[in-house]
This record gives sequence, C-alpha cells and structure tokens, in this order.
Amino acid sequence: MTQRDELAVSLLSAENVAGAAALCRECFTTPWPESVYRRELENPQSVGFVCTDGETVVGFIHCDFVLDELTLNTLAVRADYRRCGIAKRLFAAAAEMVSGVCTVCYLEVRESNLAARRLYESLGFRQNGFRPRYYHDPEEAAVLMEKPLGSGIPADSSAD
Ligand SMILES: CC(C)(COP(=O)(O)OP(=O)(O)OC[C@H]1O[C@@H](n2cnc3c(N)ncnc32)[C@H](O)[C@@H]1OP(=O)(O)O)[C@@H](O)C(=O)NCCC(=O)NCCS
Repeated sequence: MTQRDELAVSLLSAENVAGAAALCRECFTTPWPESVYRRELENPQSVGFVCTDGETVVGFIHCDFVLDELTLNTLAVRADYRRCGIAKRLFAAAAEMVSGVCTVCYLEVRESNLAARRLYESLGFRQNGFRPRYYHDPEEAAVLMEKPLGSGIPADSSAD
C-alpha cells in the first residue's frame, strides 16, 4: 500500500464520482447508485470528499445539511487501506467545510458494525437512539448517533 502521506483528500467531483460509487459497491450491500451521487454534485447542501491514491478512490464521505444539522450518509474506505486514518481525515474535511454553519452531525450505523461504531465514538459521537429492524439485506437495527460540531473534532482524532 502507498504511504499515508501520499494519499490526497479532495472534493467529490465529476472526475472522481464514478470511483466513489464503485467503492460504495465494494463496501455496502445496498449502495446508493452512482446517479444519486452525481445528482448530489449539483446540490449546494451536499458535502462530499474522496481520498485518492493516484487516480484510485480509496475513501469516500458524503454528507448533507439542512439549516445547522449535518447528516453523514456515506463513509467508506477500501478494505486494504483501513486503519490508517483515512476515515478520520475525510470526516475532518467534511466538518471543516460546514464549520460556522452546522452545529450538530447525525448518523445511523448498523448495530453489528463495530468498526464504524468505534470510529464514530473516537470522533466524539454518542448514541442518541436505536431503531430495531431499520436496515434490510440483512435486516438489522440501527444505532443513531450525534456529535456537536463547532468545538472541532477531538485533538487526538487527527490523522496527521
Ligand atoms: C468504518 C470505516 C469507514 C473506518 O475507516 P478507516 O479509514 O479504517 O478508519 P480510521 O483508520 O480513520 O480509524 C480511526 C479509528 O476508528 C476506530 N476503528 C476503525 N476501524 C476499527 C476496527 N475495525 N475495529 C476497532 N476500531 C476501529 C479506531 O479507534 C481507529 O483508530 P486506531 O486505528 O488509531 O485504533 C471502514 O472500516 C469501512 O469502510 N467499513 C466498511 C463501510 C462501513 O461500514 N462504513 C460505515 C457505515 S456507517
């Protein structure tokens, strides 16, 4: 794998959206189609970043916001690039983009997805709800989480 400092984080764009959608197909059983992310490129309330190794998208985050509430919709890192801080870098980029606008971030995560739940806890998210049978393929409960924004992500969560 490439060294971490050779990885680049940049805005989701027409050039990299196909790679982002392909990564989602690798990582999720019910990914949003590429057309949805392409449409989001035109949405001023949408926040998307990719992490690339050369031309290859190896990480992707997509959020949107209404008023001061940011919702994290998608976060994925290619399996062979995990545990080197890419997800944290992507979240930091999204949070930075909405700083001064959004005061809170919400998300849902599969109950069994301990990697993601640990990640979100390390970013300062706390559980604020639980929805049984929320997901399908396979059916599973959702853990709802929230994190105040504006105070910045915890100092120890920087990937750099
Ligand atoms: C969840 C996911 C995005 C994490 O991406 P990542 O780039 O590996 O995460 P990071 O390297 O930034 O991890 C930061 C911290 O999160 C926690 N974490 C991440 N993966 C973890 C794991 N498998 N087990 C335990 N803790 C984990 C750790 O605290 C980690 O810090 P550390 O490596 O210093 O211990 C990635 O595993 C993934 O894409 N999974 C499949 C898709 C998915 O489930 N997305 C989330 C849907 S809600």
